[in-house]
Amino acid sequence: MTDTNPRLVNPEVQPDDRLDPALRPRKLKDLIGQDRVKENLEILIAAARQRKDSLDHVLFYGPPGLGKTTLAHVLANEMGVNIKITSGPAIEKAGDLAALLTNLSGGDILFIDEIHRLGKAIEEVLYPAMEDFALDIVIGKGPAARAIRLKLPRFTVIGATTRLALVTAPLRARFGAVYRLDYYDIPAMELIVTRAARVLAVPAEPEGVAEIARRGRGTPRVALRLLRRVRDYAQVRGNGTVSLEMSRQALDLLNVDPLGLDEMDRRVLQAVIQKYRGGPVGLNTIAAAVSEEPDTIMDVVEPYLLQLGFLDRTPQGRVATHQAYQHLNLEIPDDDQPRLF
Ligand SMILES: Nc1ncnc2c1ncn2[C@@H]1O[C@H](COP(=O)(O)OP(=O)(O)OP(=O)(O)O)[C@@H](O)[C@H]1O
Ligand SMILES: [Mg+2]
Repeated sequence: MTDTNPRLVNPEVQPDDRLDPALRPRKLKDLIGQDRVKENLEILIAAARQRKDSLDHVLFYGPPGLGKTTLAHVLANEMGVNIKITSGPAIEKAGDLAALLTNLSGGDILFIDEIHRLGKAIEEVLYPAMEDFALDIVIGKGPAARAIRLKLPRFTVIGATTRLALVTAPLRARFGAVYRLDYYDIPAMELIVTRAARVLAVPAEPEGVAEIARRGRGTPRVALRLLRRVRDYAQVRGNGTVSLEMSRQALDLLNVDPLGLDEMDRRVLQAVIQKYRGGPVGLNTIAAAVSEEPDTIMDVVEPYLLQLGFLDRTPQGRVATHQAYQHLNLEIPDDDQPRLF
């Protein structure tokens, strides 16, 4: 990236992706899984191309590491346009956003990561920009001040968030397309790990790959990280080939269990079960019990536990399910009365 604007975030900041930008699929057809989203995007792209128009504004939401940033790049590639990358917290003043917007050319994509963290004053500049491709700025001060409207080229905002609920309704309403990314199923995860092993030139047996895919929390970023660690292990302790045995040993050593739960996941479940007798218990209480940020629990830990059916969300708080007890080899209590804390 050659742009020196400090509000633009380097696309390679994700620590795990930095080493292997080659792992990021560039075309929609290279993207594995998320079939429904992919099909919708194909139509969106084809329609925009036919009309020779810019792409409609797109909002992606879902847990971290499922490919929101990747999809934004893929869309830019498919449309053959430039992409500028920024994030909610990086835009501090309305002027920062104005500077970004006035530097866009027709069709360009402005990718705003963590869009739920945009300030209110900045959102207000974004509304007319997204809706009317116009920038309202005030020139001068006091009685002499006057508002002028600058015309912007037709551009596309791609927003990404792990927290759809925190995106304000007026902002959400300005996105023509909103897509939720889901955890990947095991076959898709296997394809992703196989492809990554090929790109990284890591010799891998299908059973070794399958084990990494199973323990990857349905999350490409996690699986790719595990692949690198298994590669290291196989190199040091084995003959360099990622086999079932090597995957198992390496992942056990990393404390990643057969369902992909890591230490933090297990500590959360154990806190709910052992300290709060299975719940219901509030998120902040859980966070305090495991000394983690409530945001991390909510964005990273909880969605996967909900997906596995290990946690339930009730109006009173989180409840551990019987499957969670079984998975952790803990005795299920006799009385099933909900308890309040
Ligand atoms: N469908 C996919 N096929 C292959 N690789 C993928 C896919 N989706 C994501 N990846 C890989 O997973 C990693 C994480 O993807 P990405 O950075 O796009 O996630 P994200 O949703 O933006 O995460 P965050 O919310 O943390 O920003 C990248 O290295 C990317 O190459
Ligand atoms: Mg991202």
